[in-house]
Amino acid sequence: VITLKPNNLVEKFQEIRSQTEDICRPLEIEDHTLQCMDDVSPPKWHLAHVSWFFEEFILKPYVESYREFSAEFGFLFNSYYNAVGVRHPRPKRGHISRPTLKTVLDYRHYIDNNMKDLLVSAQSTEIMRRIQIGLHHEQQHQELLCTDIKYNLFCNPTYPTYNSELSENICGPSVPTWCNYEGGLVDIGAKSDTFAYDNEFPRHQKFLAPYALESRMVTNGDYLQFIDAGGYQHSEFWLSEGWDFIQTNKQFAPLYWLKKDGAWFEYTLAGLQPIDLSGRLAHISYFEADAYAAFRKCRLPYEAEWEHAAQAVLPKSFFILDQNNNEELKQPLGDLYGVGWQWTIDSYLPYPGYRAESGALGEYNGKFMCNQQVLRGGSLFTPKNHIRFSYRNFFPTNTRWQRTGIRLAKSL
Ligand SMILES: [Fe+2]
Repeated sequence: VITLKPNNLVEKFQEIRSQTEDICRPLEIEDHTLQCMDDVSPPKWHLAHVSWFFEEFILKPYVESYREFSAEFGFLFNSYYNAVGVRHPRPKRGHISRPTLKTVLDYRHYIDNNMKDLLVSAQSTEIMRRIQIGLHHEQQHQELLCTDIKYNLFCNPTYPTYNSELSENICGPSVPTWCNYEGGLVDIGAKSDTFAYDNEFPRHQKFLAPYALESRMVTNGDYLQFIDAGGYQHSEFWLSEGWDFIQTNKQFAPLYWLKKDGAWFEYTLAGLQPIDLSGRLAHISYFEADAYAAFRKCRLPYEAEWEHAAQAVLPKSFFILDQNNNEELKQPLGDLYGVGWQWTIDSYLPYPGYRAESGALGEYNGKFMCNQQVLRGGSLFTPKNHIRFSYRNFFPTNTRWQRTGIRLAKSL
């Protein structure tokens, strides 16, 4: 988790801001304005929006001499903050061919220069806290940039390659085991000495019955057994809403799986690749995760079960994990963090005693606590120092364009 001290503020800020631009570097100029579905935002929009966040929530309220870059950018690049004013509709972000990419990059550098002055001069606790939120916010968008770029390129029938050296095949042991937990009264939620979003507080107690988690996430090979056994054709595995959804939308395999001449392929950022059976399954909906768990006569984890296990794994697997070091992945639960988001059985709800932040930043998390599921663990696309054991991601049940996968659980 990024910890900001006055002496590393400038360095951390520059590092994270340039990582965002690095993600866009392999793109062609035409790729930057593309929005192939409502949930996806064009890369150019992300580049501008994360800069607007610093402008709106830090520069405007805290720097008296600050002059905004453009009077139109608040309308174009506000995502969902009603308290800040009206905005351009999300599904039409791909219509914004102007400002050009060059202007958006100029905007980024204008914001960076203004922020640098603030980073070296003002050190109030509230400004520091907002800078920290702004940087974690930018890291969230770095992940969205990856998933949105992937979706947009996938919609091109030639299946272009983003980076031929980027492997999404995270492999682990072929035979999973079960890791058992006694449960009892456990502490859940962020500790107050570290950065966390408001939805991870307050830390509170939760009673867990004895349970087990599978030692690794579900693989493509596991899931292929479900497909081959007619999993998508048997309603008894499916939630009613899920069954209706897959029929209506004709979803009978994970999002990026394609069958060609009887063989399965998967679209990745390195282009179309043969399915790796030992790779971790990704890009499935909550409906598919739940149906697979039912097929295996198991269930998905409760988020408190996941977090209780994850707190015990820390710090061994935390941050050590990277895709070139599969040794960690061979450990039981070695893929808890940073491989794939794991759907939990829990609806995204406030913790007991939750209080949203005051002001517009209170819209960051709290207003989405309805009709979404919690996901845990972070994915390959999540910046490593953004992941934490208490992190609660959330998406609607039919979402598939994030790197979402399955860890099985069962009650003992
Ligand atoms: Fe945002």
